[in-house]
Amino acid sequence: MNIVFIGAGYVGGPTITVMASKCPEIQFTCVDINQDRINAWNSKELPIYEPGLDDLVKKNRNKNLFFSTNVEEAVKNGDIIFVSVNTPTKTFGKGAGYAANLEYWEKTARMILDVSTSNKIIVEKSTLPVKTADAMARILNSDKAKYHFDILSNPEFLAEGTAINDLLHPDRVLIGSFENENGIKARQKLVELYQNWVPKEKILTTNIWSSELSKLTANAFLAQRISSINAISALCEETDANIEEVSKAIGMDTRIGNKFLKASVGFGGSCFKKDILNLAYLSRHYGLTEVADYWESVVNINEYQKERLVDRMLNNMFRTLSGKKICILGFAFKANTSDTRESPAISITKKLLEERAEISISDPKAIENAKKDLADLEGKISFTEDPYEASKGAHSLLILTEWDIYKDLDYQKIYDHMEKPAFLFDGRSIIDRQKCYDIGFNVFTIGTSSLKHFD
Ligand code: NAD
Ligand code: UGA
Repeated sequence: MNIVFIGAGYVGGPTITVMASKCPEIQFTCVDINQDRINAWNSKELPIYEPGLDDLVKKNRNKNLFFSTNVEEAVKNGDIIFVSVNTPTKTFGKGAGYAANLEYWEKTARMILDVSTSNKIIVEKSTLPVKTADAMARILNSDKAKYHFDILSNPEFLAEGTAINDLLHPDRVLIGSFENENGIKARQKLVELYQNWVPKEKILTTNIWSSELSKLTANAFLAQRISSINAISALCEETDANIEEVSKAIGMDTRIGNKFLKASVGFGGSCFKKDILNLAYLSRHYGLTEVADYWESVVNINEYQKERLVDRMLNNMFRTLSGKKICILGFAFKANTSDTRESPAISITKKLLEERAEISISDPKAIENAKKDLADLEGKISFTEDPYEASKGAHSLLILTEWDIYKDLDYQKIYDHMEKPAFLFDGRSIIDRQKCYDIGFNVFTIGTSSLKHFD
């Protein structure tokens, strides 16, 4: 059997690699139109950083795992085609700023139709609006079609930074199909593929619309928890309650659960915002205004949380940041990834530059992406991997990614070479507040009252 992934990104690359490692008798080919990305997948420096990925790629590459730009050839020979191309928010025309831009998906479907010389199973791996499979079925099984295409929905739930573990040990694998004879047969084939490493009871089959909608819903629920705890963090800062204690207290209720309750500078990543806005757009499309407003408020709180942090800096640093050096520790949208898409660090850097602050950025893996993200901005920005170098002469530290290395920095050494009074804003609540205060820092963490050496 030949399995093909179209789209060698954060989802396609790791997912095909794990599948290839678990199914040695199947040939896997990952294709992309981006030559640089494919070159990188075939080199020592993979295009994405993900713990455990390098080893797994090295073990399987050029055995039963291939990376190529020869999209049409691979598709022609494929039996099952997973489509994991990007589905960003539309930036033009109707639904701009909300709806998913499905042009990459549709182009892919038409290409599959044009080059195929056999029946195939087409799997939606990308996150798509509910009812996309309907459009796909119409294109693929149009009058022009000489072969039969079964469409399945198999959304991916991996999180970056833990992708390999998530793929090896998923909470569940969701497979949706049209509930006719062909659809159920195709779905069974995919179930058998996953059974090579996923326990049967974790493979959930549903109708195709439930599967499409469950993916958007899962992301919306996860993001909603973060906005909920972040909303409470604002109240904590006003009332001397402590968000860590509140999180723990509510998380011990088994009905609430203790995961995804970490207050932060706000969620980032390429998907939460995009998927919620898409859910809101879909709801509006069906006339469900209240439902749309409800979900959109999750994104609004997230924007508010980022603004709140910059306001807190301004208010405490004597109402001006102009000419002051702010050292940002962490630019990735979360730890253990080089990905900076929708990272809170991007909009916060922009806001700080508007205040005419001087920015020094440090990150162990994301410096190259940070440079690209900020390329068009005017102002003083410098980049260095070394946090000690980055913080020399700074007025304030600003932790935006929860990298482990930032937990154990020599904060005394850093304090000694900073301007005084020295400020420390921890957007991830990873530092020892009291210890840093005792060193001399004025300390501000999310959801706790500030520790200041002055009134
Ligand atoms: P990505 O941008 O990293 O990768 C997508 C790849 O598809 C790119 O390399 C692009 O060049 C390629 N591509 C686009 N059009 C193509 C075409 N016509 N032919 C061949 N290749 C083409 O995106 P991603 O982060 O991997 O996300 C892909 C999808 O998976 C999105 O729908 C996203 O919402 C979803 N998703 C992402 C994550 C995540 O953690 N990043 C997790 C779950 C689901
Ligand atoms: C998220 C989901 O967790 C995945 O299940 C989903 O497949 C993926 O989106 C997707 O569809 O793209 P990801 O964005 O990679 O995964 O990472 P998360 O761990 O969910 O973190 C997202 C953001 O929320 C990060 O900025 C993180 O720092 C933040 N976060 C997370 C918090 O602020 N607090 C928390 O308690 C948890």
